Amino acid sequence: DPHGAFLKCLYQNSTTAGSISQVTYDQTNYMYSSLLDLSIQNLRFQTPNAPKPLVIVTPVAVDQAQAVVRCSRESGLQVRVRSGGHDYEGLSYLSSVPFVILDLLNLRKITVNVENATAWVESGATAGELYYRIGEKSNSLGFPAGVCPTVGVGGLFSGGGYGMIMRKYGLSADNIIDARIIDADGKLHDRESMGEDLFWAIRGGGGNTFGVVVSWRISLIPVPETVTVSTVLRTLDQNATALVHRWQYIAANQFPDDLTMRITLQSLDGTDGNRTMQAYFQTLYLGRTDDLLAVISSSFPELGLTREDCTEMSWVNSTLYFAGLSGQPLEALMNRSSNAKIYFKNKSDYVKEPISEAALEEIWKWFSRAEQGALVMILNPYGGRMGEISESAIPFPHRAGNLYKIQHITAWTDGSAEVSAMRVSLMTQFYQFMGAYVPKSPRSAYVNYRDLDIGKNGDSGKTSYQQASEWGRKYFHGNFDRLVKVKTAVDPTNFFRNEQSIPPLPLP
Ligand code: FDA
Repeated sequence: DPHGAFLKCLYQNSTTAGSISQVTYDQTNYMYSSLLDLSIQNLRFQTPNAPKPLVIVTPVAVDQAQAVVRCSRESGLQVRVRSGGHDYEGLSYLSSVPFVILDLLNLRKITVNVENATAWVESGATAGELYYRIGEKSNSLGFPAGVCPTVGVGGLFSGGGYGMIMRKYGLSADNIIDARIIDADGKLHDRESMGEDLFWAIRGGGGNTFGVVVSWRISLIPVPETVTVSTVLRTLDQNATALVHRWQYIAANQFPDDLTMRITLQSLDGTDGNRTMQAYFQTLYLGRTDDLLAVISSSFPELGLTREDCTEMSWVNSTLYFAGLSGQPLEALMNRSSNAKIYFKNKSDYVKEPISEAALEEIWKWFSRAEQGALVMILNPYGGRMGEISESAIPFPHRAGNLYKIQHITAWTDGSAEVSAMRVSLMTQFYQFMGAYVPKSPRSAYVNYRDLDIGKNGDSGKTSYQQASEWGRKYFHGNFDRLVKVKTAVDPTNFFRNEQSIPPLPLP
């Protein structure tokens, strides 16, 4: 009985924070279901039929997390690590073989050191908690992490982590200087004892693969005390197609690194029954309004950005703004459930050549044929610092030459099987259509927008080099091979695994 053996092993371990039984929940515990559902973001995977963990453990100390790893291994159970629960395919809380969830939500201490501009962040913290803690201590320091404040640092940093200041400072993973990780034997390492290969792999090589990262040491970056934000909406009548087309030539290659302008494409039905296609241009400028307006009037005057469209604020307030939480107190960044839970199926693409106006018209046709709001695209500009960092500096390879990344989104609120199937099929077809406009070999994707359609390991995570390279090259390009080498060295029996984890080479 692996379940009984696991609990017996766990309770025999004495840990610094007292009895581990107080943070161990099996299906007989009245808290089990609410705890399981607490951080699930994609409602597609919160169903009665979804496979459930035998046990959930929420350590309050690192040695408790070590005991979970040791005991699951000893008793033959798979472990799924969960930090913020935002995995698009639910891999942090689903498995087809008997498993345990190691949920890090209680390990979320953040220690900001203003003097040397660094911080230690435990993996269970969210991006919002990190922003809040930095803002609490300094209004001239920041960190490049996610737009959505409820995303967990554990998954976010493990896959890269981008946000509104990526063009100036790169990804979260580009700014990590140390980490603590529990290996498959339950041993704890820091950067020095894990070695540079493993330290390279955990900064973007994907979660639940090399071990459990319990904390990260990050380099904070300087931000001006005042930044400028703006959101402007343009419809087709207001030249949206030409503006989006033009944006592709300037957002990555002409705008200064201090300026990030992303676009959301969506559709909305008016009260008159007519559907309007909308392009939202959202801008963050690391500087004052006057300077932003000067840049825009020289390189993108067609947009018609005015002073009234712009608002000056502190950088930490801009994180609230882009999270859609404007007007709320900064404490809203600490709310781990501020994001409304929905059903969704998303995918990603990288664009290297501008998409023509004729093709943009074709995209709008998809928006008008689908149900209102069924399709959304977010275009995130690259260039700047992202083009300067080498493709192999960390596992995340999407650097020079990329104009922008697209996130294709379909989200819905009716959980019936029929609607879900329709939406998933809509996304499959739309992605196929978009294939004509993006690089094909490989058709690249962002590992943190996890998509099991692009290839996956066997059900229990068992796989071959061949099978894994199908999805692995799309996420990691040439870095895939080095990831396999690291995995082979640190976890040769493939203890940490899931449907998209890097496999070790077979033992000789
Ligand atoms: P979760 O806990 O589900 O973990 C994700 C994966 O990492 C799982 O495989 C898990 O096992 C593993 N893992 C988690 N913690 C680990 C640890 N400590 N050690 C080892 N493995 C670990 N991305 C982005 O870059 N910028 C953005 O702005 C956004 N915005 C955004 C909004 C919303 C609403 C969602 C749902 C997602 C995003 N994302 C994003 C994508 C996000 O980066 C991605 O889903 C992350 O993997 C989520 O990390 P969590 O810790 O929340 O997820």
